[in-house]
Amino acid sequence: MCGIVAAVTQRNIINFLLHSIQRLEYRGYDSSGLALIDQNNKFVRVRSIGKVNQLIKKTKNKKLFGKIGLAHTRWATHGKVSEENAHPHVSSHISIVHNGVIENSFKIKSFLKEQGYIFYSDTDTEVIVHLLHWEQKKTGKSLLEIMNHSLTQLKGNYSMVVMDSNNSSKLIAVCSGSPLIIGLGIGENFIASDQIALLSVTKNFIYLKEGDIAIVQSEKIKIFNKNRSIAQRKIITSDVQYEYIKKGKYKYYMEKEIYEQPKSIRNTLKNRLKNNETIYFSELGIKEKNIFSHLEHIHMVACGTSYHAAMVAKHWFESLANIPCDVEVASEFSSRKLAVRKKSFFVTLSQSGETADTLTALRISKKLGYLGNLTICNMKGSSLVQESDNYLLTKAGVEIGVASTKSFTTQLTVLLMLVAKIVSIKKKENNIEKKIVKILTILPRRIEEILKKNKQIQDIAKKLHNKKHMLFLGRSDQYPIAMEGALKLKEIAYIHAEAYLSGELKHGPLALIDKDIPIIITAPKNSLLEKTKKTIQEICARGGLIYVFSNEEINLETNITSLKVPYVEEIIAPIFYTIPLQLLAYYIALIKGTNIDQPRNLAKSVTVE
Ligand code: G6P
Repeated sequence: MCGIVAAVTQRNIINFLLHSIQRLEYRGYDSSGLALIDQNNKFVRVRSIGKVNQLIKKTKNKKLFGKIGLAHTRWATHGKVSEENAHPHVSSHISIVHNGVIENSFKIKSFLKEQGYIFYSDTDTEVIVHLLHWEQKKTGKSLLEIMNHSLTQLKGNYSMVVMDSNNSSKLIAVCSGSPLIIGLGIGENFIASDQIALLSVTKNFIYLKEGDIAIVQSEKIKIFNKNRSIAQRKIITSDVQYEYIKKGKYKYYMEKEIYEQPKSIRNTLKNRLKNNETIYFSELGIKEKNIFSHLEHIHMVACGTSYHAAMVAKHWFESLANIPCDVEVASEFSSRKLAVRKKSFFVTLSQSGETADTLTALRISKKLGYLGNLTICNMKGSSLVQESDNYLLTKAGVEIGVASTKSFTTQLTVLLMLVAKIVSIKKKENNIEKKIVKILTILPRRIEEILKKNKQIQDIAKKLHNKKHMLFLGRSDQYPIAMEGALKLKEIAYIHAEAYLSGELKHGPLALIDKDIPIIITAPKNSLLEKTKKTIQEICARGGLIYVFSNEEINLETNITSLKVPYVEEIIAPIFYTIPLQLLAYYIALIKGTNIDQPRNLAKSVTVE
């Protein structure tokens, strides 16, 4: 969604700003813009719809110069995609970029119109900038001084950076509702909504907390907390590897991230498996016994792909730990009155740690009497990690492709370790933990083996790319994998796909079966395989077109295309069978020529509810 970059330096900042917002393209956006304060202390602003490349073209030959500036990628919420609606917005000597939504903007706008302000855009952001100008004009105070009063008038999310051409040495950052980080340079400082934008200039970051206001100058930074007292914030050195943000030999980030999974999982396991039999989470340390020993129920909440990971974990919690587990989509959790189970522990899952629905759910959960909470997240400094009592990092590395791949399989890896740990703590014996340590150690190799089936999966993709609909079937812990396969296909190949429980097929969807709707089935060899074969026969009997991924030979009928995959241990089958479905969606999208890394209408991290 929207992205912010700002800089206050002692050099011309134009190229840095353009390069950095390009880094934020993966988040999803529809227009971009920047503003600088030039040598005459005047704003120079350039905006464009479409890709950042369009903006770059517009800045060429303009000889832009400025040591302080703002840049933004906009995801339209208030007002259509247009140059007028793109940020930065300006009111006289004040310029602003903003992420979030101001819920009471219409009311403030009509007040400001009565005061004579002219609006050139339909955005809520222009309302903020005129409001700041109005307050300053009225009181004659500095921008910082009027900020407090102005902010109390805004309802909603308003993380923003403000620049004043009457005072070209400082930027003011306000963090409220979506993330903002300060990047520390030498004789220069930066602000961004995502550390990826700043990795070319620094690895040292301060993550602003909810309600913070920061004054950022090239040589110093002052932060006020939500009570407006001076705050000290920790400097975090990022361990994000630069290689993660390069495509290397791959055509798309998604392709790279699929093939990176053995390595990502190895990183997830690194330093966590001790003596080949114990799991150790340094994030929890010795607290882990206290955290988990009393829980009798788990409530997991997430969105999108992370929700599918939680669905798999439900099976593990119930079958291995005998702990009842409920799983819910975050927006639903926040939309209903719920009865919290006795001794229930609340778990959120998120790649980004910034998904607004999941954050809201966490905030609500804190008032509901859960035993405690934990987030499983890929981003160390994210809001979810900061606001949760406990966290576990998935360590997948930066994921750029909008459609999640390696973050899903590393979430599952962490979840399986967590289940094993909880079993040991509660049962006071570690047989299951030992078994899982052994299986997880071989997981990366298993994934390397299945990735080698890519040619056969490309052949299947060639047969399926022009289909309009597809059905994905799964049973038990393979059902969330069917959901994930269907989601991938919708996201990047724009093909309508539905996931169904194999056992439910006969209660409705069987009516859909014909030769135009391919049915994709993952069927690992386990106690349920015979039932799955029965489902396959039912479909064949009605002329359905079946594609099966299984580690057993399944050639019951002629209209089955069966891809025999390598053997895998039953417990990790959900992780393993995700891979062919990721590859299938990827190769179908590749043939269709869609924008795989930035599919239409989607954002990597959805920071509005
Ligand atoms: C967006 C992304 C999905 C992702 C979901 C949840 O919709 O496009 O790929 O699964 O958000 O994101 P999270 O960062 O919370 O895992």
